[in-house]
Amino acid sequence: MTSVQPQPSAPGSGDAALPPLPEQTMAELVELAARYPQPRSALLPMLHLVQSVEGYVTGAGIEACAEVLGLSTADVAGVATFYTMYKRRPVGDYHVGVCTNTLCAVMGGDAIFERLKDHLDVGNDETTEDGRITLEHVECNAACDYAPVVMVNWEFFDQQTPDSAVGLVDRLRSGEEVAATRGARVCTWREAERVLAGFPDDRADEGVGAGEPTLLGLRIARDRGWTAPTPEQAAELDSSGTGPGEGRADPSDSGGTAPYRRADQETRVQESAAETRDASDRTPPSHEGATAAGEEDA
Ligand code: FES
Repeated sequence: MTSVQPQPSAPGSGDAALPPLPEQTMAELVELAARYPQPRSALLPMLHLVQSVEGYVTGAGIEACAEVLGLSTADVAGVATFYTMYKRRPVGDYHVGVCTNTLCAVMGGDAIFERLKDHLDVGNDETTEDGRITLEHVECNAACDYAPVVMVNWEFFDQQTPDSAVGLVDRLRSGEEVAATRGARVCTWREAERVLAGFPDDRADEGVGAGEPTLLGLRIARDRGWTAPTPEQAAELDSSGTGPGEGRADPSDSGGTAPYRRADQETRVQESAAETRDASDRTPPSHEGATAAGEEDA
């Protein structure tokens, strides 16, 4: 690996080489704290604001948050080191997160991550020498229906391949404007952190929030007139032994109508699965869509 990685600062110890936060940032930290009935509730967005200015959570940033909220630096450092979205060393212009959790991994996430490590000549949580890309493997992003996914500054790039991911990072490094698969333009890491801090960039409505794979189940339910029971109906079904909770109630209950109910449920599950497969057959195969999306959008 040719990248040089600075050592993480000790949380709360302060970075002697870094100046204190700018006055405007201090004012914005106070503004964030005032948005909440309990000021310490603002700590998470405040740490994002620190990252938007400093590029990571510096000691100076920890001290500033502690001062504004009347907390100890240990309290703030404890939060900053607990959540993986807070970084303890500088992040590049683009944080590229490759999901290597179970579904994405088996669909190609592991291969994408290995390819990017080779292509960028960095390891996990390391930044390229030009400061453009930080590569990290990330856990499930709740986009399993688009597996394998890559995130750039938390924007989704769906159904990626090793080739499309390499194309994506090359376009980012060249300075080309890049749009996520579902439409949103990718901004820099620091710009994204400012939005996460609670200072909108008026681009929240770019693109769509949910695409066809996510909405498929909803569409099938609408086509068939399926609706979820109200809480009252669910409680009634549960208490009458015909609802979703009946199988959990008493595993030893094999008398009465229980065998019949289980068989009936099984039949319904099989029917639903068959209907879902039928509906899926009418949509493009996800992997072909993946290649197209990857080449087109990534
Ligand atoms: S496993 Fe990758 S988004 Fe869920």
